[in-house]
Amino acid sequence: PALWRSGQPPCRTHADVCPAIGKNARVSAAVPPPLAATSAASPPPTSLPAGVSPDREVMFRARVARWWPDLVNGLRMAYGDERAGALGADLVELAGAAFAARSDRLHVRDLERMLRPDWLQDPSMVGYAAYTERFAGDLRGVADHLPYLDELGVRYLHLMPLLRPREGDSDGGYAVADYRSVRADLGSMDDLEHLAARLHDAGMSLVLDLVLNHVAREHEWAVKARAGDPTYREYFHVFPDRDMPDAYEATLPEVFPDFAPGNFTWDEDLQGWVWTTFNEFQWDVNWSNPAVLREYASIILDLANRGVDVLRLDAIAFLWKRLGTDCQGEPEVHALTQVLRAVTRIACPAVAFKAEAIVAPTKLLPYLGTGAYSGKVSDLAYHNSLMVHVWSMLASQDVRLAAHALGSLPPKPTTATWLTYLRCHDDIGWAIMDEDAGAVGLSGHAHRSFLWHWYAGDHFGSPARGLVFQYNRETDDGRTSGTAASLIGLQSAGSAAEVESAAAALRLANAMVLGWGGIPVIWSGDELGQPNDPRWALEPGHGDDNRWAHRPRLDWERAEHRHDRTTTAGRVFGDLVELVRARGSLVHLHGSVETQIAPVDDPGVLVTVREHPVGRFVGVYNVTPQWRMWPGWRVNELGVADAVDRITGDALPWGGDGNVWLPPFAVLWLTT
Ligand code: GLC
Repeated sequence: PALWRSGQPPCRTHADVCPAIGKNARVSAAVPPPLAATSAASPPPTSLPAGVSPDREVMFRARVARWWPDLVNGLRMAYGDERAGALGADLVELAGAAFAARSDRLHVRDLERMLRPDWLQDPSMVGYAAYTERFAGDLRGVADHLPYLDELGVRYLHLMPLLRPREGDSDGGYAVADYRSVRADLGSMDDLEHLAARLHDAGMSLVLDLVLNHVAREHEWAVKARAGDPTYREYFHVFPDRDMPDAYEATLPEVFPDFAPGNFTWDEDLQGWVWTTFNEFQWDVNWSNPAVLREYASIILDLANRGVDVLRLDAIAFLWKRLGTDCQGEPEVHALTQVLRAVTRIACPAVAFKAEAIVAPTKLLPYLGTGAYSGKVSDLAYHNSLMVHVWSMLASQDVRLAAHALGSLPPKPTTATWLTYLRCHDDIGWAIMDEDAGAVGLSGHAHRSFLWHWYAGDHFGSPARGLVFQYNRETDDGRTSGTAASLIGLQSAGSAAEVESAAAALRLANAMVLGWGGIPVIWSGDELGQPNDPRWALEPGHGDDNRWAHRPRLDWERAEHRHDRTTTAGRVFGDLVELVRARGSLVHLHGSVETQIAPVDDPGVLVTVREHPVGRFVGVYNVTPQWRMWPGWRVNELGVADAVDRITGDALPWGGDGNVWLPPFAVLWLTT
């Protein structure tokens, strides 16, 4: 969910709460100095399992030599100099075993991706995210629907959590009971492997969640901890009384203030308070215990050998706990990501990481690598800010706040890639920073409040039909659930003109997401303009969580009309396919290039500029239902006066007055 909170708890230091531990205040987060000449300075003499060919062995050793410094430096940062060498050697051993077990097909994939390290940045990369059962029943069903995905141009398929969850409410599968098996109703590990191979043959990559902040209370580790096994108790953060939990709570936000308030849960079996950032049944694991790191490294390697291409590092921000902080994005999180990445580079370099860090915009970049971590952590991260600002622009019909906020984000490393999206399985948390709002004369709180009221449809003039998620009385913050079609007004549209206007707005929103650069990911059902699921609350375990409203089953009857532009489904699907095609032909949209914001000439029009070595890309977006003017002198200045729209092939709509006149919700993708 949207974990970013605008209203943080009052900023007391933990020492006010628990003077006894005052000295443990925020430890400075230094990146370790270059390695001294210790045993950790050079790779260990690893033995590979028997049967690995001499050529492969040479390759393996070359990779170890290449990645050992990243591995051991990450370990030093998280666990200290003394333990780093031995932990690193053990992880290399683990990687060696996985390397030896990796199939020939996947070894070829590794090679191809090492030769093409920008494979995620290609403008033809388009993603799709879905729950297996809601999209196609089970894993075999997904394989049967590849032609549908291919029609949309999908090359990256994110299947929502499908490893065996706990029974009953499992937070949509984010409470994993066993990482080594698949949910029985969806199929088996062999089915997963088979599907991965089918996807690869079709030119698609398989993306799965790796839930690594917590496990289900029913996971074997938790079961053993509850049975009194001290080794496994150490896998969790357990406290005998409220002292430490209260000290931490002083600076922790609440992720689910509504249905799971607080961050700790009393457990009778444990006779202790266990850390539960999310639901009570999701137990945070203790990453300061290196045994936990080893477990997850092994899980990652297993999934990689099944053919998984990208791992979505769920709730990655929360891995490291530090008293006196909000326990999000602590430096060790990045050190640990660096370690896991080095392990996968050694054993299975075809595998990439995606950070799910829904944090304040200014705190996002470290997940893609800043400073010493540049190029060493996740390959992909969600561009939450873009998503929020697209919806904000549409509601306010004004681009000034978005232009300021998006324009002031520092550039990401060129090797890292944004994952752009309009909707996903989670709610929208209105991550508008007070500083950004203030810079354009708005109040942050008032604007956020406007947004969640607007998208709930209870603001004058709003056609939206969303739902309020996790209203927080203390901070008066609300979040939003709803499908793209329901939020944008397609669900409520009655007349042909209203349908036309909402469909045009949806095309515009999709164009901003697809025209940004990075991998745009379509949330299942949005490609057909599916409305909220009116029966979402009726399914067992879903009643409290209105995110299920925007997780409808794919309506295959509706999909049958996707080629008929007189239907809503056909209109939305056709527009999207047109954008996907145009995008694939535009090298300017390569993910390495930064999107810049051009000066705002009309508050209703956002203009983006991408300077690619082959030429300039200019994206023009009228976010209002009115005609807007784009000054002729600016068009000339940007060098696109003679350009044609690369989506439709049409010439610029010049008016007789020497300016370009943009129809309601117009989009132009221009290149020099
Ligand atoms: C992520 C998921 C969300 C889930 C949470 C806990 O934020 O996107 O759906 O509730 O992690 O795993």
